[in-house]
Amino acid sequence: MKKIVLETYEDVCRAAADIFSEQLRQKPDSVLGLATGSTPIGLYAELVRRYEAGDVDFSKARSFNLDEYYPISKSNPQSYFYFMRKHLFDKVNLRHFCLPDGEAADAQAECKRYDTEIAAAGGIDLMLLGIGLNGHIGFNEPASSYPVGTHLAVLSESTISANSRFFALGEAQPVTALTMGIGGILRSKKIVFVISGKSKADITKKLFDDAIHMDVPGSFVLLHPDVTVLLDREASGG
Ligand code: F6R
Repeated sequence: MKKIVLETYEDVCRAAADIFSEQLRQKPDSVLGLATGSTPIGLYAELVRRYEAGDVDFSKARSFNLDEYYPISKSNPQSYFYFMRKHLFDKVNLRHFCLPDGEAADAQAECKRYDTEIAAAGGIDLMLLGIGLNGHIGFNEPASSYPVGTHLAVLSESTISANSRFFALGEAQPVTALTMGIGGILRSKKIVFVISGKSKADITKKLFDDAIHMDVPGSFVLLHPDVTVLLDREASGG
């Protein structure tokens, strides 16, 4: 694992954008794995800036997001579909983007369809990950066992509370989601982790103490042969 400590959040976003730009330069038809949450927002802004400057081209690329609330409509501003359109898809020339469908009638069938579609695309070349305060990746919450493939997940109290900042008082907050499994994430050819802020220092420390912790789903990524971790000084605890 390559661990790179940078000074600021902006540095992390630029370094992550370098990795994505280089991936697309080397393989224009790359399959990208994408994440939501606060941390990737600066990366997406930087990729939009580079696209507008003519420095990055998504026209042949495809993307698959890690997760989506379930059930949720695509027009709901809290949906990850809406988030991704707002921060990236509506602003660059990426035409083939997929998320688990929060509107699907049958969650199990949707999970199967999603994994089949990722496999048919040739698998994910470069996967972006953030980490939850409780160590989750995607919506793989701390548990005693982990489904391999995409599945319906019940969100933990910690995640519901951390994500409540995005919801207005009284607004219904989903408690279940469709998420790629740990196996699906580990099948990606390359992984880049972006981690920022003091609040992540404790979980970051646990993530990188060279052990697989059953209660830190993100630590399974240590098993992957090609992981780059970009973190700012605050997240590094320094
Ligand atoms: C979202 C996702 C989550 C987030 C994590 C960190 O697609 O996969 O695992 O990466 O909750 O979120 P932020 O960046 O908001 O701290």
